[in-house]
Amino acid sequence: MDTNSQGFHEETSVLSNLPETEWKLVANTTLLGWKGFWLTHHIMKSVISIENQFNPLPSDILLVSFPKTGTTWIKALTATILRHNSNLDSDSQTDPLQTQNPHELIPFLELETFGESPSRDINQVPSPRVFNTHLPYSILPEAVKNSGCRIIYISRNPADTFVSTWHFYNKRFGTKIPLEVAFDEFCQGTVGLGPFVDHVFEYWLEREKENVLFVTYEELKDDPKKHVSRIAEFLGCSLSADEIDQVVWKCSHERLSKLDVNKDEERVHWSGMKFSSYFRRGVVGDGKNLLSPEMMERIETLANQRWEGSGLEI
Ligand code: A3P
Repeated sequence: MDTNSQGFHEETSVLSNLPETEWKLVANTTLLGWKGFWLTHHIMKSVISIENQFNPLPSDILLVSFPKTGTTWIKALTATILRHNSNLDSDSQTDPLQTQNPHELIPFLELETFGESPSRDINQVPSPRVFNTHLPYSILPEAVKNSGCRIIYISRNPADTFVSTWHFYNKRFGTKIPLEVAFDEFCQGTVGLGPFVDHVFEYWLEREKENVLFVTYEELKDDPKKHVSRIAEFLGCSLSADEIDQVVWKCSHERLSKLDVNKDEERVHWSGMKFSSYFRRGVVGDGKNLLSPEMMERIETLANQRWEGSGLEI
Protein backbone atom coordinates (compact mmCIF):
# COMPACT_ATOMS: atom_id res chain seq x y z
CA MET A 1 0.00 0.00 0.00
CA ASP A 2 1.52 3.38 -0.93
CA THR A 3 1.55 6.29 1.53
CA ASN A 4 -1.38 8.06 -0.08
CA SER A 5 -3.74 5.12 -0.10
CA GLN A 6 -2.70 4.22 3.42
CA GLY A 7 -3.44 7.79 4.52
CA PHE A 8 -6.84 7.67 2.84
CA HIS A 9 -7.68 4.37 4.48
CA GLU A 10 -6.82 5.73 7.93
CA GLU A 11 -8.77 8.89 7.26
CA THR A 12 -12.04 7.14 6.38
CA SER A 13 -11.93 4.72 9.26
CA VAL A 14 -10.88 7.36 11.78
CA LEU A 15 -13.39 10.04 10.79
CA SER A 16 -16.47 7.84 10.62
CA ASN A 17 -16.10 6.62 14.18
CA LEU A 18 -15.58 9.87 16.05
CA PRO A 19 -18.10 11.49 18.43
CA GLU A 20 -19.79 14.59 16.99
CA THR A 21 -21.27 17.83 18.29
CA GLU A 22 -22.48 21.12 16.73
CA TRP A 23 -20.62 24.44 17.04
CA LYS A 24 -23.48 26.92 17.01
CA LEU A 25 -21.40 30.12 16.87
CA VAL A 26 -19.79 28.98 13.63
CA ALA A 27 -22.87 28.29 11.50
CA ASN A 28 -23.71 25.04 13.30
CA THR A 29 -20.49 23.45 12.11
CA THR A 30 -20.06 19.79 13.02
CA LEU A 31 -17.14 19.13 15.31
CA LEU A 32 -15.42 15.79 15.79
CA GLY A 33 -14.01 14.65 19.12
CA TRP A 34 -10.34 13.68 18.95
CA LYS A 35 -7.93 13.11 21.84
CA GLY A 36 -10.05 15.18 24.22
CA PHE A 37 -10.57 18.13 21.82
CA TRP A 38 -13.18 19.19 19.24
CA LEU A 39 -12.04 19.73 15.66
CA THR A 40 -13.82 20.60 12.43
CA HIS A 41 -13.73 18.05 9.58
CA HIS A 42 -11.23 20.27 7.74
CA ILE A 43 -8.86 20.42 10.68
CA MET A 44 -9.26 16.72 11.40
CA LYS A 45 -8.20 15.92 7.83
CA SER A 46 -5.25 18.28 8.22
CA VAL A 47 -4.24 16.52 11.42
CA ILE A 48 -4.04 13.28 9.47
CA SER A 49 -2.06 14.81 6.62
CA ILE A 50 0.32 16.59 9.04
CA GLU A 51 0.80 13.32 10.91
CA ASN A 52 1.56 11.47 7.65
CA GLN A 53 3.52 14.06 5.70
CA PHE A 54 5.09 16.77 7.86
CA ASN A 55 8.83 16.38 8.39
CA PRO A 56 9.62 18.90 11.12
CA LEU A 57 13.16 20.26 11.29
CA PRO A 58 14.98 21.16 14.51
CA SER A 59 15.28 24.71 13.15
CA ASP A 60 11.49 25.08 12.67
CA ILE A 61 9.56 27.56 14.78
CA LEU A 62 5.94 26.84 15.69
CA LEU A 63 3.74 29.69 16.89
CA VAL A 64 0.92 28.02 18.78
CA SER A 65 -2.29 29.56 20.03
CA PHE A 66 -5.93 28.96 20.70
CA PRO A 67 -7.74 31.21 18.17
CA LYS A 68 -8.22 34.85 19.24
CA THR A 69 -5.50 34.86 21.86
CA GLY A 70 -2.98 36.96 19.91
CA THR A 71 -1.97 34.86 16.89
CA THR A 72 -1.74 37.89 14.60
CA TRP A 73 0.44 39.73 17.11
CA ILE A 74 2.87 36.85 17.75
CA LYS A 75 3.19 36.33 13.97
CA ALA A 76 4.05 39.99 13.44
CA LEU A 77 6.53 39.95 16.34
CA THR A 78 8.30 36.77 15.25
CA ALA A 79 8.60 37.84 11.62
CA THR A 80 9.92 41.27 12.63
CA ILE A 81 12.40 39.94 15.20
CA LEU A 82 13.82 37.50 12.66
CA ARG A 83 14.13 40.22 10.02
CA HIS A 84 15.93 42.56 12.40
CA ASN A 85 18.27 39.75 13.35
CA SER A 86 19.15 39.30 9.68
CA ASN A 87 19.62 43.07 9.29
CA LEU A 88 16.76 43.11 6.79
CA ASP A 89 14.85 45.94 8.38
CA SER A 90 17.24 48.80 8.53
CA ASP A 91 14.57 51.27 7.46
CA SER A 92 10.82 51.22 7.71
CA GLN A 93 10.36 51.12 3.92
CA THR A 94 11.56 47.54 3.92
CA ASP A 95 9.11 46.49 6.63
CA PRO A 96 6.80 43.88 5.03
CA LEU A 97 4.09 44.73 7.56
CA GLN A 98 3.61 47.98 5.62
CA THR A 99 2.06 46.06 2.77
CA GLN A 100 1.23 42.61 4.11
CA ASN A 101 -0.97 41.40 6.91
CA PRO A 102 0.97 39.29 9.48
CA HIS A 103 -0.99 36.22 8.35
CA GLU A 104 0.53 36.58 4.88
CA LEU A 105 4.05 36.46 6.30
CA ILE A 106 3.76 33.19 8.20
CA PRO A 107 1.72 30.22 6.93
CA PHE A 108 -0.94 28.40 8.91
CA LEU A 109 0.24 24.80 9.17
CA GLU A 110 -3.18 23.14 9.21
CA LEU A 111 -4.79 24.79 6.22
CA GLU A 112 -2.14 26.60 4.19
CA THR A 113 0.67 24.07 4.02
CA PHE A 114 -1.40 20.91 4.68
CA GLY A 115 -5.05 19.90 4.55
CA GLU A 116 -7.41 19.40 1.66
CA SER A 117 -6.23 22.22 -0.59
CA PRO A 118 -2.95 23.70 0.61
CA SER A 119 -2.22 27.07 -0.96
CA ARG A 120 1.47 27.27 0.00
CA ASP A 121 4.24 24.91 -1.00
CA ILE A 122 6.05 23.93 2.18
CA ASN A 123 9.27 23.61 0.19
CA GLN A 124 9.11 27.32 -0.57
CA VAL A 125 8.89 28.40 3.08
CA PRO A 126 12.19 30.17 3.83
CA SER A 127 14.53 29.00 6.57
CA PRO A 128 14.09 29.09 9.49
CA ARG A 129 10.62 27.86 8.66
CA VAL A 130 7.97 29.51 10.82
CA PHE A 131 4.41 28.18 10.96
CA ASN A 132 1.46 28.92 13.13
CA THR A 133 -0.76 26.18 14.41
CA HIS A 134 -3.80 25.97 16.65
CA LEU A 135 -3.32 22.28 17.42
CA PRO A 136 -3.45 21.19 21.07
CA TYR A 137 -0.21 19.71 22.39
CA SER A 138 -1.64 16.21 22.61
CA ILE A 139 -2.57 16.36 18.91
CA LEU A 140 0.84 17.54 17.69
CA PRO A 141 2.58 14.63 15.94
CA GLU A 142 5.30 12.86 17.91
CA ALA A 143 7.70 13.84 15.11
CA VAL A 144 7.15 17.50 16.04
CA LYS A 145 7.65 16.85 19.75
CA ASN A 146 10.83 14.85 19.07
CA SER A 147 12.28 17.31 16.55
CA GLY A 148 13.34 19.84 19.18
CA CYS A 149 11.78 22.60 17.08
CA ARG A 150 11.00 25.77 18.98
CA ILE A 151 7.44 26.32 20.17
CA ILE A 152 6.09 29.70 21.26
CA TYR A 153 2.66 29.44 22.87
CA ILE A 154 0.58 32.57 23.40
CA SER A 155 -2.24 32.42 25.91
CA ARG A 156 -4.93 34.94 26.87
CA ASN A 157 -7.46 35.25 29.66
CA PRO A 158 -10.58 33.18 28.97
CA ALA A 159 -13.19 35.97 29.14
CA ASP A 160 -11.33 38.20 26.64
CA THR A 161 -10.68 35.21 24.38
CA PHE A 162 -14.36 34.32 24.37
CA VAL A 163 -15.51 37.88 23.67
CA SER A 164 -13.00 38.27 20.85
CA THR A 165 -14.21 34.97 19.37
CA TRP A 166 -17.86 35.99 19.61
CA HIS A 167 -17.28 39.28 17.77
CA PHE A 168 -15.04 37.63 15.16
CA TYR A 169 -17.47 34.91 14.08
CA ASN A 170 -20.54 37.09 14.19
CA LYS A 171 -18.73 39.44 11.84
CA ARG A 172 -17.53 36.57 9.64
CA PHE A 173 -21.01 35.12 9.16
CA GLY A 174 -23.07 38.29 9.55
CA THR A 175 -24.86 36.61 12.46
CA LYS A 176 -25.63 37.55 16.03
CA ILE A 177 -25.70 34.25 17.85
CA PRO A 178 -27.09 34.95 21.34
CA LEU A 179 -24.25 35.68 23.72
CA GLU A 180 -25.57 33.17 26.27
CA VAL A 181 -25.62 30.35 23.70
CA ALA A 182 -22.09 31.01 22.48
CA PHE A 183 -20.84 31.52 26.02
CA ASP A 184 -22.35 28.26 27.20
CA GLU A 185 -20.69 26.26 24.44
CA PHE A 186 -17.36 28.00 25.10
CA CYS A 187 -17.59 27.03 28.78
CA GLN A 188 -18.67 23.48 27.87
CA GLY A 189 -15.62 23.31 25.62
CA THR A 190 -17.64 22.32 22.54
CA VAL A 191 -15.96 24.83 20.22
CA GLY A 192 -13.31 24.40 17.54
CA LEU A 193 -10.02 23.41 19.25
CA GLY A 194 -11.81 23.46 22.61
CA PRO A 195 -11.92 23.08 25.51
CA PHE A 196 -9.97 26.34 25.76
CA VAL A 197 -8.86 25.70 29.36
CA ASP A 198 -7.35 22.33 28.37
CA HIS A 199 -5.61 23.80 25.31
CA VAL A 200 -3.82 26.37 27.45
CA PHE A 201 -3.15 23.93 30.27
CA GLU A 202 -1.42 21.37 28.06
CA TYR A 203 1.16 23.90 26.83
CA TRP A 204 1.58 25.33 30.33
CA LEU A 205 2.68 21.87 31.47
CA GLU A 206 5.38 21.90 28.75
CA ARG A 207 6.65 25.40 29.53
CA GLU A 208 9.85 24.39 31.28
CA LYS A 209 11.24 22.55 28.28
CA GLU A 210 14.17 24.34 26.70
CA ASN A 211 12.43 24.52 23.32
CA VAL A 212 9.09 25.87 24.65
CA LEU A 213 8.26 29.48 25.48
CA PHE A 214 4.92 30.32 27.10
CA VAL A 215 3.85 33.97 26.88
CA THR A 216 0.57 35.63 27.70
CA TYR A 217 -1.27 38.37 25.86
CA GLU A 218 -1.59 40.24 29.13
CA GLU A 219 2.12 40.27 29.95
CA LEU A 220 2.97 41.37 26.41
CA LYS A 221 0.53 44.25 26.81
CA ASP A 222 1.78 45.12 30.27
CA ASP A 223 5.51 45.18 29.49
CA PRO A 224 6.05 44.70 25.77
CA LYS A 225 9.79 45.47 25.78
CA LYS A 226 10.53 42.90 28.46
CA HIS A 227 8.54 40.14 26.79
CA VAL A 228 9.60 40.93 23.22
CA SER A 229 13.18 40.66 24.52
CA ARG A 230 12.32 37.24 25.99
CA ILE A 231 10.93 36.13 22.63
CA ALA A 232 13.99 37.44 20.76
CA GLU A 233 16.34 35.68 23.14
CA PHE A 234 14.36 32.45 22.83
CA LEU A 235 14.67 32.72 19.04
CA GLY A 236 18.42 33.15 19.40
CA CYS A 237 18.27 36.72 18.12
CA SER A 238 20.47 39.39 19.56
CA LEU A 239 18.66 42.72 19.27
CA SER A 240 19.71 46.05 20.77
CA ALA A 241 17.36 47.96 23.10
CA ASP A 242 16.66 50.32 20.21
CA GLU A 243 15.73 47.42 17.93
CA ILE A 244 13.42 45.96 20.59
CA ASP A 245 11.68 49.36 20.77
CA GLN A 246 11.28 49.32 16.99
CA VAL A 247 9.87 45.78 16.99
CA VAL A 248 7.36 46.71 19.72
CA TRP A 249 6.18 49.74 17.77
CA LYS A 250 6.10 48.09 14.34
CA CYS A 251 3.94 45.25 15.68
CA SER A 252 1.67 47.31 17.91
CA HIS A 253 -2.08 47.16 17.48
CA GLU A 254 -2.05 50.94 17.27
CA ARG A 255 0.23 50.93 14.24
CA LEU A 256 -0.94 47.78 12.43
CA SER A 257 -4.65 48.55 12.70
CA LYS A 258 -4.09 51.90 10.94
CA LEU A 259 -2.08 50.61 7.99
CA ASP A 260 -3.94 50.58 4.67
CA VAL A 261 -3.34 46.87 4.19
CA ASN A 262 -5.25 46.13 7.39
CA LYS A 263 -7.97 48.75 6.89
CA ASP A 264 -8.81 47.97 3.28
CA GLU A 265 -12.14 46.12 3.36
CA GLU A 266 -11.26 44.47 0.05
CA ARG A 267 -8.15 42.72 1.40
CA VAL A 268 -9.08 39.28 2.62
CA HIS A 269 -7.31 36.41 4.28
CA TRP A 270 -7.14 33.06 2.41
CA SER A 271 -10.01 31.90 4.64
CA GLY A 272 -12.27 34.68 3.34
CA MET A 273 -11.84 36.78 6.48
CA LYS A 274 -11.13 40.49 6.00
CA PHE A 275 -7.71 41.51 7.30
CA SER A 276 -9.42 44.26 9.25
CA SER A 277 -11.22 41.61 11.33
CA TYR A 278 -7.96 40.63 12.97
CA PHE A 279 -7.73 44.03 14.63
CA ARG A 280 -10.63 44.91 16.88
CA ARG A 281 -9.91 46.56 20.22
CA GLY A 282 -6.68 44.84 21.23
CA VAL A 283 -7.04 45.54 24.96
CA VAL A 284 -6.96 43.58 28.20
CA GLY A 285 -10.21 43.23 30.17
CA ASP A 286 -12.76 43.65 27.38
CA GLY A 287 -14.53 40.49 28.57
CA LYS A 288 -16.16 42.21 31.47
CA ASN A 289 -17.62 44.88 29.16
CA LEU A 290 -19.85 42.26 27.56
CA LEU A 291 -20.22 39.48 30.11
CA SER A 292 -22.44 39.76 33.18
CA PRO A 293 -20.83 39.36 36.63
CA GLU A 294 -22.37 35.86 36.77
CA MET A 295 -20.80 34.93 33.43
CA MET A 296 -17.43 36.31 34.54
CA GLU A 297 -17.66 34.23 37.69
CA ARG A 298 -18.56 31.09 35.76
CA ILE A 299 -15.66 31.36 33.32
CA GLU A 300 -13.12 32.32 35.97
CA THR A 301 -14.21 29.50 38.27
CA LEU A 302 -13.99 27.06 35.38
CA ALA A 303 -10.40 28.12 34.57
CA ASN A 304 -9.32 28.26 38.20
CA GLN A 305 -10.68 24.78 38.89
CA ARG A 306 -8.99 23.29 35.82
CA TRP A 307 -5.67 24.98 36.50
CA GLU A 308 -5.71 24.72 40.28
CA GLY A 309 -2.34 24.09 41.86
CA SER A 310 -0.46 24.39 38.57
CA GLY A 311 0.67 27.99 38.98
CA LEU A 312 -1.33 29.00 35.90
CA GLU A 313 -3.59 31.91 36.69
CA ILE A 314 -6.01 34.09 34.79
P1 A3P B 1 -9.89 41.71 20.39
O1 A3P B 1 -10.97 41.05 19.60
O2 A3P B 1 -10.05 41.52 21.86
O3 A3P B 1 -9.65 43.12 20.03
P2 A3P B 1 -5.95 36.42 16.86
O4 A3P B 1 -4.84 37.17 16.23
O5 A3P B 1 -5.48 35.21 17.63
O6 A3P B 1 -7.04 36.12 15.90
O7 A3P B 1 -6.54 37.36 18.00
C1 A3P B 1 -7.18 38.55 17.66
C2 A3P B 1 -7.17 39.44 18.88
O8 A3P B 1 -5.86 40.00 19.02
C3 A3P B 1 -8.12 40.62 18.71
O9 A3P B 1 -8.52 40.94 20.05
C4 A3P B 1 -7.22 41.68 18.11
O10 A3P B 1 -7.68 42.99 18.27
C5 A3P B 1 -5.94 41.43 18.89
N1 A3P B 1 -4.73 41.87 18.18
C6 A3P B 1 -4.43 41.74 16.85
N2 A3P B 1 -3.23 42.28 16.60
C7 A3P B 1 -2.76 42.77 17.75
C8 A3P B 1 -1.57 43.50 18.12
N3 A3P B 1 -0.65 43.80 17.22
N4 A3P B 1 -1.43 43.86 19.40
C9 A3P B 1 -2.35 43.55 20.34
N5 A3P B 1 -3.51 42.90 20.05
C10 A3P B 1 -3.71 42.50 18.78
